[in-house]
Amino acid sequence: MKFYLDSARIDEIKKAASLGYVQGVTTNPTLLKRAEIWKDFKSLGEFYLEVMRICDGKIFMQVPSENSQKMLNEIKNLDDSRLVIKVPSVPKGLKIAKGLIDKDYSICATAVYTTSQALMWSSIGVDYVAVYVNRMEKKGFDAFKNVKAIVKALSNTQTSVLAASVKTVEQLSWLIDIGADYATLDYDMIEGITKCDFSIQDTKIFDNDFEKMYKRLKEK
Ligand code: E4P
Repeated sequence: MKFYLDSARIDEIKKAASLGYVQGVTTNPTLLKRAEIWKDFKSLGEFYLEVMRICDGKIFMQVPSENSQKMLNEIKNLDDSRLVIKVPSVPKGLKIAKGLIDKDYSICATAVYTTSQALMWSSIGVDYVAVYVNRMEKKGFDAFKNVKAIVKALSNTQTSVLAASVKTVEQLSWLIDIGADYATLDYDMIEGITKCDFSIQDTKIFDNDFEKMYKRLKEK
């Protein structure tokens, strides 16, 4: 499994990029609103250009299910090879996705809940399906069983499973176990992966011993 940062906050994108292990950034309209991007940017094009400047890798940008062309016009000067267009998993999304696939855009179908939805998107050639793990649980789905079935159904296809809406370490563990290709995580979870208490304790002992050993060497 590889990891994306799920955030539109520039400070978090900078911190996550500096950790050096995230594969890129995923965003959605709610994250853009929460980050209040209008305070620092005049347009979506300007915002995504800055995100691409800060962070290497893929940048996921979601289009609305109505008037998607308006948003696509705003980002037409960005590097297509690094952009993944997220298309909502609704009937109108199919037409939008097909049009974009014909223009060679990379597509992620988002807000996917069922195996049949995932197979439908895969059959039109999307690169990712974003499955909403925590939202599944909140809606009463057995998320583990459900995502496992989606991973299995897409295993011999060109479509990767992007686990989104992941809120706990337990969810992340079973997602890794069932072979989800990617997870997109908030900044706290991205940073949390770098900090295991046991590794920190062991490292303190190693550092202490290093100091002692080095002191003895210098005394010679
Ligand atoms: C990411 O691509 C998704 O839009 C996001 O993870 C949704 O998660 P939420 O349930 O935290 O809103």
